Amino acid sequence: MILPIVAYGAPVLRKVAEDITAEYPNLQKLVADMWETMYASSGVGLAAPQINKDVRIFVVDSAQIFENLEENEKGEYPDEPGIKKVFINAHIDKLEGEEWSYNEGCLSIPKIREDVMRPQTVTISYVDENFEPHTETFNGVTARIIQHEYDHIEGKLFIDYLKPLKRKMLQGKLNDISKGKVRVDYKMTFAK
Ligand code: NI
Repeated sequence: MILPIVAYGAPVLRKVAEDITAEYPNLQKLVADMWETMYASSGVGLAAPQINKDVRIFVVDSAQIFENLEENEKGEYPDEPGIKKVFINAHIDKLEGEEWSYNEGCLSIPKIREDVMRPQTVTISYVDENFEPHTETFNGVTARIIQHEYDHIEGKLFIDYLKPLKRKMLQGKLNDISKGKVRVDYKMTFAK
């Protein structure tokens, strides 16, 4: 089932989300709905607060990015062929490597893209959809998406990294988004 995506301005996007237990009701259905919602809005990641659930779950599919590469671009990226994974109760253990800039967007903040600096590598502990524990290190664009989605379960958004002046210049657009004054081709819900 495709769920509406919560737009900037909703309090759920600013909460630190809670760990869940293996008994969390209808977990498999929730994860399936998150995948469906993410693909329906052409995303590469989606976090539970974005569908109005205050829990530590996010999904990432960076494999999509690599599937669309031209033949001559293959083999150039450190995280090829990408991942498709569910991260539950994730906690970052370590961020390493030089920070690099990438033009980020967010399904909850449509039509705004900005360059954000983040470290190259992330080491993260989590359980998967079967509650099997993992600790893994990711790099490249995959590490970038994981850090962006992880921020969502910590109540952070990519615009928080912008310089104050840049943020100020976006304020009008952000207010419009929170009031629903934005045109998007996927289903959204607005705080007011
Ligand atoms: Ni986002």
